Amino acid sequence: MGLVVESRLDNMEVKDVAIKLVDVYKIYRMGDGLEFRALNGISLEIGRGEYVAIMGPSGHGKTTLLNMIGLLDRPTRGKVFIDGVDTSKLDDEELSRFRNEKLGFVFQQYNLINRMTVLENIELPLVIRGIPRSERVRMVIDALEKIGGDRSWLYKRPTQLSGGQQQRVAIARAIVGDPDIILADEPTGNLDTASSRVIMETFQRLNEMGKTIVMVTHAHDIANCANRILLIRDGVIKGEIKPDRSKSIFNIV
Ligand SMILES: Nc1ncnc2c1ncn2[C@@H]1O[C@H](COP(=O)(O)OP(=O)(O)OP(=O)(O)O)[C@@H](O)[C@H]1O
Ligand SMILES: [Mg+2]
Repeated sequence: MGLVVESRLDNMEVKDVAIKLVDVYKIYRMGDGLEFRALNGISLEIGRGEYVAIMGPSGHGKTTLLNMIGLLDRPTRGKVFIDGVDTSKLDDEELSRFRNEKLGFVFQQYNLINRMTVLENIELPLVIRGIPRSERVRMVIDALEKIGGDRSWLYKRPTQLSGGQQQRVAIARAIVGDPDIILADEPTGNLDTASSRVIMETFQRLNEMGKTIVMVTHAHDIANCANRILLIRDGVIKGEIKPDRSKSIFNIV
């Protein structure tokens, strides 16, 4: 199975590569002097515009891997390239700016700020970027339209929306700054089937617009919405399987 991943590495042009990991390790040192290898030498390449699902049992390194790709944490060893940039060369400030411009994040728990309005939540990445207010509002409305949201949500608090609506707001926040890459960790983990389907429709639309998507999931019917499924076990990529559309959430009644 590893061979499938290797052959892709050889065939892809550098300019087509959105994400590249070279021999990435994440080793946690425990208090007792022992070490835990959460990622144990991961190399992979994800092309621009790909839609990839990462599957694997609980505790086997999915979130750790996504955090490496998302530059939320640095590897113990190995390199992460985003858009051809060797991110190990960036200092913490450059890394934050790069992350803000290139990557959008979606989490299982939505991670919205409940004391702020929907508008304030979505515009947050733009505030950090220093974009003026009038432009921000225009961009927020644009993002809200892309995810099929309603303008009436803008001045509500996240808790006044359903779980599925809150996750759509979180996706709007992820895409408002127009990042090329969207990273999602169990985006439907808290949602029922109908809401999960709406989220998967939204991801599909974003992928058709050219966004690269990497999504961690436990669920086969969610993974089968992607174009490629990577399997992780014990912190290692164990192989790759082809998604089966007939078994995706779009086809399950
Ligand atoms: N900060 C940390 N210190 C020590 N060990 C950690 C730390 N973060 C994660 N781990 C360990 O690394 C392993 C991988 O964790 P990770 O969160 O990546 O798993 P996961 O595949 O996302 O699991 P789940 O499906 O339950 O979300 C786990 O055994 C976890 O306990
Ligand atoms: Mg996890």
